[in-house]
Amino acid sequence: PKVVVLLGGPSAEREVSLSSGRECAAALRAMGYEVTEIDAGPDMAARLADLQPDVVFNALHGRWGEDGCVQGVLEWMGLPYTHSGVLASALAMDKERTKLVYRAADLPVADSLLADKADVQARHVMAPPYVVKPYNEGSSVGVYLVNEAANAPPVLAADMPQTVMVEAFIPGRELTCTVMGDRALGVTEILTDGWYDYDAKYKAGGSRHVCPAELPDDITAACLDYALRAHNALGCRGVTRTDFRWDEAKGLAGLILLETNTQPGMTPTSLSPEHGALAGMTFGEFCAWMVEDASC
Ligand code: DAL
Ligand code: MG
Repeated sequence: PKVVVLLGGPSAEREVSLSSGRECAAALRAMGYEVTEIDAGPDMAARLADLQPDVVFNALHGRWGEDGCVQGVLEWMGLPYTHSGVLASALAMDKERTKLVYRAADLPVADSLLADKADVQARHVMAPPYVVKPYNEGSSVGVYLVNEAANAPPVLAADMPQTVMVEAFIPGRELTCTVMGDRALGVTEILTDGWYDYDAKYKAGGSRHVCPAELPDDITAACLDYALRAHNALGCRGVTRTDFRWDEAKGLAGLILLETNTQPGMTPTSLSPEHGALAGMTFGEFCAWMVEDASC
């Protein structure tokens, strides 16, 4: 089959997507697929119309590629594509609306609100500690942690959006779980020296992954259950990865969902390929499963 891998694009996660896309393209070639890479830009639709691939492998991250926009183009063109469709992609990319769906599905979340950037910089809009972040970006781009001891509100970068998300900071451990189709594959704990920020995510040695995570059985079971329920509640397809924080002192009640990533990273330091491996799949087999699962 002819596969086009979409990668790059104009989002803040462009570099991450270039890395994901190159890894997936190389793995699919090694699995015998005929692969063309397209850096997503204004000529994307014209190039796809020319190539007429059997499947589009969407390796884009962040806005436009992960939020339903590209999915809409592919639906319009009738080209089967990997990962989630338009609605689930759009919902999951919006971290605040994701919570409406989680709450409706009885999934636990941290308190949060959307606020105007000027207000967030003028006063504490929530009792510290809290986190300020764009409600529609990934890879921890533009995430600020306001400590308990902070007496001043944060100063945000000029390129932060006018409306930002403010979320209660959950102390404790960073966990994540990948779902593939109708099953949750496994749970990883991420260990970092500081904050699990962009560098910790993508620099070799920036973080340590414990996979499978060493957790009490009920916490592992809850992560697997919550990740699958989140995937289904949002209407996702293919592979997703749901991120958690766990305040160990509170037991099961301390486990909360942060978000569901509909295009989880596939870079050499990414988490979902490790969950594929845990389930017995090579990276190539994991990518091939996504291709075979594609639809529109
Ligand atoms: N947003 C990055 C790519 C991830 O969730 O893995
Ligand atoms: Mg994310």
